[in-house]
Amino acid sequence: MIAPLQERLKALIDKVHGYEVRLEEMEFTVHFRDREREIEMLFTDVLGSRGISLIYGPRGAGKSTLAEVIVRGTNELGKINRNYAFVHLHLDEGIIKELKIQIPNLSDDVINQLKNVFNLDINLGPIGFSIKLGNAIYVLAEVVKRYGLDDRMIVVFLDDVDKYVKRLGYDVLEAVANAIPDIIRREGVKMQVVFMVSDQAAADVVNKVGPKGGLTPYLLWNLPRRAFEEVINEISEKTGVEYVDTDLLWNLLGGNVRELEKLVSRYRWDVKTWLQDEVINFIRDVLKANIDLRTFKDVNEVLEAIIEKGRVAARDYGLGEFTGQPDAIEGAAKFLENNVMIKTRMRGIKYLFELPREPWVGSDFAYQIPAYYWVLRAMIEQGRVGVSVNDILRTINTSANASRGNSL
Ligand SMILES: Nc1ncnc2c1ncn2[C@@H]1O[C@H](COP(=O)(O)OP(=O)(O)OP(=O)(O)O)[C@@H](O)[C@H]1O
Ligand SMILES: [Mg+2]
Repeated sequence: MIAPLQERLKALIDKVHGYEVRLEEMEFTVHFRDREREIEMLFTDVLGSRGISLIYGPRGAGKSTLAEVIVRGTNELGKINRNYAFVHLHLDEGIIKELKIQIPNLSDDVINQLKNVFNLDINLGPIGFSIKLGNAIYVLAEVVKRYGLDDRMIVVFLDDVDKYVKRLGYDVLEAVANAIPDIIRREGVKMQVVFMVSDQAAADVVNKVGPKGGLTPYLLWNLPRRAFEEVINEISEKTGVEYVDTDLLWNLLGGNVRELEKLVSRYRWDVKTWLQDEVINFIRDVLKANIDLRTFKDVNEVLEAIIEKGRVAARDYGLGEFTGQPDAIEGAAKFLENNVMIKTRMRGIKYLFELPREPWVGSDFAYQIPAYYWVLRAMIEQGRVGVSVNDILRTINTSANASRGNSL
């Protein structure tokens, strides 16, 4: 007898919590943490029906890792695998990073043939790319039927597909997203094709598909506070660092493991240098990108315009004094295009997990990592772009003290 879904999910979650995952810029691994709710949502909601869906979220939040451990875990737990089969096509800029096809009961020969059809070539151009990907989905459906595996849910993760097609233009995603539901319906197979992206522009394009596609966007956020602190502690032990200010790191990194890795491997835990090089300079460069000779002569004028607009929005939306709240900024100043911010609301959106209640996360927009919020807040408070690392740390402390005061 096959155990009910909840029991199988619990087994899967226990299994993946035993895994260690590679840290991209370091030579060691850390335990895979948290994501219970995300895994439950994935199996009960995303994979609850056939069609296409979109998982998007901040850069380095852990989307690819989640897909990876799910594919590995279900494969190692034969019981869940009886109902699911996976193709994890992990792309990168112009290359295929990894292709895993896990469909039990198929011979290596057939798997290898399938691998060949999924071996997409970026040089095909946008039309060639969408035809080849559509064809791969079609061949997959045919194989599943031919070998009598059509009682299973076939899951195709098109992971980091935005990075792969960036050069071709994101419209190609719309073409693919429009074509796939027809193939699934015509073939009559149970299949869910999941587009996974971190670029807001790509998420917007995929989400443009017509109602017949019925695409639902799912937001995956950075790790929650407790799990993030566990990762910090594990990394600090492994790097032999004794004291780490986890409060401060939560306030700067907000659960983003990729950025934590950068801080540790490139900056040897030196928060101040990281703040200057990766955050202050970056935000200043994004603001600079808004300079156009007709409206803004210099970067301080760009900031002025943000403050002017933000004050009005903060007042209109009842947000209180304008401090750079994401819902008052609304992705202005090229913040979405440059991955400073991300939308937390899209048409039909569902949340794989609740978002943290923090000043850098709004109901319509959020900063991808909190450090961007604090830098902008310090700039707004001072009325100039030239802020120092100490200004930022002071802004964080003052705000923390004020909110402690409020809760007394
Ligand atoms: N649940 C987790 N526990 C511990 N570490 C994690 C977890 N999820 C991801 N990581 C680590 O965080 C880093 C970033 O993860 P990942 O590449 O999956 O993010 P992503 O959202 O796919 O990024 P991108 O937006 O660039 O595609 C990786 O080094 C990964 O090992
Ligand atoms: Mg990824």
